Amino acid sequence: MRLSIKNISKEYAGGKLALRNISLEQQNGILGLLGPNGAGKSSLMRILATITQPTAGSVHWEGIDILKNPNALRRVLGYLPQDFGVYPNLSPQEFLTYLAAIKGMSGRATRQRIEALLEEVNLTEVRHQPIRTFSGGMRQRIGIAQVLLNDPRLIIMDEPTVGLDPEERVRFRNLLSQLSGERLVILSSHIVSDIETIASSIAIINGGSLLQHNYPHEILQGVEGKVYEALLEEAELKDFASRQQIIHTMRRQGGWMARYLNASGLPAHSTETPVRATLEDAYLWQVSHKAKASAYV
Ligand SMILES: Nc1ncnc2c1ncn2[C@@H]1O[C@H](COP(=O)(O)OP(=O)(O)OP(=O)(O)O)[C@@H](O)[C@H]1O
Ligand SMILES: [Mg+2]
Repeated sequence: MRLSIKNISKEYAGGKLALRNISLEQQNGILGLLGPNGAGKSSLMRILATITQPTAGSVHWEGIDILKNPNALRRVLGYLPQDFGVYPNLSPQEFLTYLAAIKGMSGRATRQRIEALLEEVNLTEVRHQPIRTFSGGMRQRIGIAQVLLNDPRLIIMDEPTVGLDPEERVRFRNLLSQLSGERLVILSSHIVSDIETIASSIAIINGGSLLQHNYPHEILQGVEGKVYEALLEEAELKDFASRQQIIHTMRRQGGWMARYLNASGLPAHSTETPVRATLEDAYLWQVSHKAKASAYV
């Protein structure tokens, strides 16, 4: 499987530039699309799912231009939009049967597939209940099931873990890692921990630009040796925050514990202690550092 995105830009009516010249190549595996709110994640995913057209650029799937030939991709696509709507009066079983029919699937194999999928997303017990009585997380799980109906080769899920409780998140992760074989899965999130354990590569986007596309360990390497913690007094905090790139602060007895990035090579505080860097540190570094850098251009 090969997806090739070249120089994609998207300008919405009204002049909003949501994607700026994005290029990336991805083969089999799980690509995590990471970026803050408004970064352009959904815009890019809608283009890949052939829902909208880019203003410029090209997308090829297995060498086929999908902007010119969207049906070639739609046949092998499973897509979960961010604002996934369901039919409130249908039950999960009815809804999946209905969607299967739209995709031209019927018969015993399809019934078995739906049964297995309901089991995978833990909705077997409620499969005959109307969806309107479901929680947000349960609805999201129907969305995940419908993505997998036609055994897709390209799976695009826009914030699939939103609304899932910790137990269901683990279940979702296991489900994805079981999807072995010739597949490419693209997941978006603005929460690093949602994708860091399952993504084989991560693309960080911000302000419509691709900041980095790399293996998680390579992204992590970018901040290794640059993350510190220091114990600050209340009165120091504001000034410190204006000088350092704070990742987060935690109240401690008599003051604050600040976690921050320091690439200067000089200690930023007398209590500065190096700590082990995480992928979240790397993500925040990328998003804030590059944003600042481009603001000065
Ligand atoms: N249909 C549209 N018309 C005009 N502007 C849009 C449209 N859809 C998105 N935008 C704008 O494009 C930018 C990128 O939006 P997009 O939804 O792709 O971001 P996102 O990364 O998915 O954000 P979120 O994490 O909030 O889902 C935002 O500034 C948004 O306001
Ligand atoms: Mg979005």
